[in-house]
This record gives sequence, C-alpha cells and structure tokens, in this order.
Amino acid sequence: MDKSLVILGSQWGDEGKGKIVDLLTPQYDYVVRYQGGSNAGHTVIIGDRKYALHLIPSGILREGKKNLITNGVVVALDELIEEMERIRDVVGDFKDRLYISDRAHIVFPYHKILDGLSEKSKGNAKVGTTLKGIGPAYMSKYARTGIRMADLFDPPYFRERLENAMAEAKSIVEKVYGERFDLSVDQVYSDTMRMFEKVADLVADTSLMLDQALKKGEKVLFEGAQGTMLDIDMGTYPYVTSSNSSALGLCNGTGVSPKLIGQAEVLGVSKAYLTRVGAGPFPTELKDSVGDRLREKGKEYGTTTGRPRRCGWLDLVALRFAVRINGMDGLIITKLDVLDHFEEIKVAVAYEYEGQLIKEFPASLKVLEKCKPVYKTLKGWNSSTSGLKDRDSLPEQVWDFIKTVEEETSVPVVMLSTGPERSEYIWLR
Ligand code: IMP
Repeated sequence: MDKSLVILGSQWGDEGKGKIVDLLTPQYDYVVRYQGGSNAGHTVIIGDRKYALHLIPSGILREGKKNLITNGVVVALDELIEEMERIRDVVGDFKDRLYISDRAHIVFPYHKILDGLSEKSKGNAKVGTTLKGIGPAYMSKYARTGIRMADLFDPPYFRERLENAMAEAKSIVEKVYGERFDLSVDQVYSDTMRMFEKVADLVADTSLMLDQALKKGEKVLFEGAQGTMLDIDMGTYPYVTSSNSSALGLCNGTGVSPKLIGQAEVLGVSKAYLTRVGAGPFPTELKDSVGDRLREKGKEYGTTTGRPRRCGWLDLVALRFAVRINGMDGLIITKLDVLDHFEEIKVAVAYEYEGQLIKEFPASLKVLEKCKPVYKTLKGWNSSTSGLKDRDSLPEQVWDFIKTVEEETSVPVVMLSTGPERSEYIWLR
C-alpha cells in the first residue's frame, strides 16, 4: 500500500467500512470523510468497546493520524460535539487530530424539521431517510442559502444569512406543509455560536491541507460513507442519499484536483450478501425465512436509526456496476461468517427483464422493479469461518464463492473480514 487509498461502499451502505478504515489507518497519514453527514453509521469494535461513528472519520481511534471532515460533508454541530464527547476518553485533545473544512455546510434544526415533513408528505413513496436533515441541508447548499463553517467566524454575516434561511424554512413549513414553525432565530443563533466555540479551532482549509499533503507524497485514506448504490447521480434514484457517495464525489467533496485523487487506489467493500435500509428497489431481496436468517445472524439493524435492514443474496450485477463507476482495483468482502451454515448460497449474475437477460444495472426504476435475479447457486461451506485469520484455513467452497465474485466483477477479492474485531481479517493478495 504505497499509494493513497479510497475505501467505498459497493452496495447500499452498511458494508462494514468503518472496521476496514480503522484497520488500514496505521498505513496512512490522513483519513478523510468527504460527503454525507450524520446519516452515516460506521462501527468500530476494539476489545469490548463498540464505537458508532457518524461524522468523524473512523481513523480518529488511532493515534497520530490527521482526520479531516472536508467541504462535501454537511455537519450538524450538536451531533459532532456529542460524538466527540463519546470518544474523548480515547482521543483526548482533538487539536491536530480532527480538522473540519471551513467550506463545510452546517445542518440546522430546520433541516431536520424539513426532512421529517418532506418524508411525511410523500406517504407510501417516502425514501425512508435517516431524518437527520441531510437532504434539506444539501438543498440549502444548492439553493445558495446554506451556511458554512467559515461564515460563523463573522457573527453579523451569519446572523443575516440565518434570518433569511429561517424565513424561507418558516414559509415552507407553514405554506407548503401547513404546520407550525416554532424555531426562533435567536435560539438557533445562540445555540450555534455556543457550539461553534467548542470546535472553531478545528476549522481549517482542508482542501489546501490535502493538496499539500498529496504533493509531498503523504498518504491519504479517503473514507466513503453510505454506498455506491445510494449515490445521488448513479444510485437507484430517487431512493438515494443526497450526495455522491461513490468515488465520483471525491473531487467536489474534498476540493482536490482529479489529477491528484486519480493516483489513489480504490477498494470497494461489499458484504457477502446484501442489505438495504429504507425504501427502493432491491432485486435480490428475500422476504422469507432465509432473509430473516441473514438479518438475525448478521445483526442487520441500522447503526444510525436502529431500523431492521432488508436482506438478500449478493447481487453481482450491482457489484459489477459499482466496480466500473468507481474504478475499483479490488474488493473487500465482509461478514462472510454470516453465510457459514447455509446449505447453499446464491449470487445474482444477471437479471431477467421481460424475457430478456440483462447484465448491466438499469437506470430506470420501473425496469429495475421488474427485474428478476438470475442466480448461480453455490454449495455452502457449512463450517465456521468466524474469526479465521489464515487463508489456508478457508474451506474450498469459500474459494469457489470468491472465484465467482472475481469472475463476474473482473477484479480481485483482496481481503476477507471474518468478524467484527480489528484483528479478524485475511489478506488474500
Ligand atoms: P438520507 O441520507 O438520510 O437522506 O437517506 C436517504 C436514503 O439513504 C435512505 O434510504 C437511507 O436509509 C439511506 N442511507 C443514508 N445513510 C445511510 C447509511 O449510512 N447506511 C445505509 N443507508 C443509508
């Protein structure tokens, strides 16, 4: 690993990226979160402690690393501060360890209100968002009514922008949704300034920092949040998140030139099966006892919302698509042990759509809803891979499973994660 590295979710999020980032961090100088916000949930387990990170890069738990929240992230100050407090005993002083971009937009309480009302108004067509205000915060950004970290250093300017933004939010809440808007500008202003004081000395020009670091040959680990299939442009729109959660978001999310980012290696993280939280198409979903078994065995309940996740077999059509659009050099397969005691294991290698075989992931939701997976059935290994650390101890059927994934995606599987602990993994290459 002599280059910078991008770690991405290859599916609909929750692939276990947090553990992988934490595991690989010692080899890098910087760890960077570049999109999304507290909708993300990255779990890292060290000994008997479990850390659920939402906004702070998963590299924070390792000493001597610089962790950056760059301009593409939307930051809820209350959640950031709470998260810092939860890990303060491990981290100590955040200075020189955590940096927040001066260009990062802020998620305000009115964004959360708007997220809830927008979802409610959609009825059955709701996206199933995390209700963290992420979509409305990005809407403010693109409507040019957003407020950035840099603005908070100039209180009168911040106050003026907040008054305008809140007047607009009030009018949407009252006129569009017919609900009361009880937030006061004074309250939001003073709460924000009070919270900002606690993090102001962590605010920095992270675009410049990264540019200088990469030009000096320092190594950066870019940590994607959510997953490729939730990407606003390339995911299963409109059942997606509101940022570019694939590698496509790296340049705009960090403010770093594609020439510099392009030198990094890209690895995708994928579970050995598939899950999704929230609504949207999911061709290999199992709404039966097999799906329930995956959920129970894999403890598939959301880190951020606690919602039960929808479960199904690994979809290699979607994975092939993720490999292509991200330029993935290899795959890391997590939660292999969840499949340990299945007699047979299926993987979708194509879809059948109105009598035709398709191998490319379709853009149209209507097409996708009608796609039936074409499965390849593999023999289960019927033994425990939980906690295995040696490639020679892997059963032959696991190698068949890996071979199928590699053949269908045309990239190597470089690592297997065999349990939640930092030490439970096997390098295959
Ligand atoms: P939002 O990002 O809260 O707007 O939610 C949009 C969609 O993305 C919903 O289906 C969420 O369940 C999903 N989503 C957002 N963040 C994550 C994540 O970190 N893991 C899995 N799904 C997520």
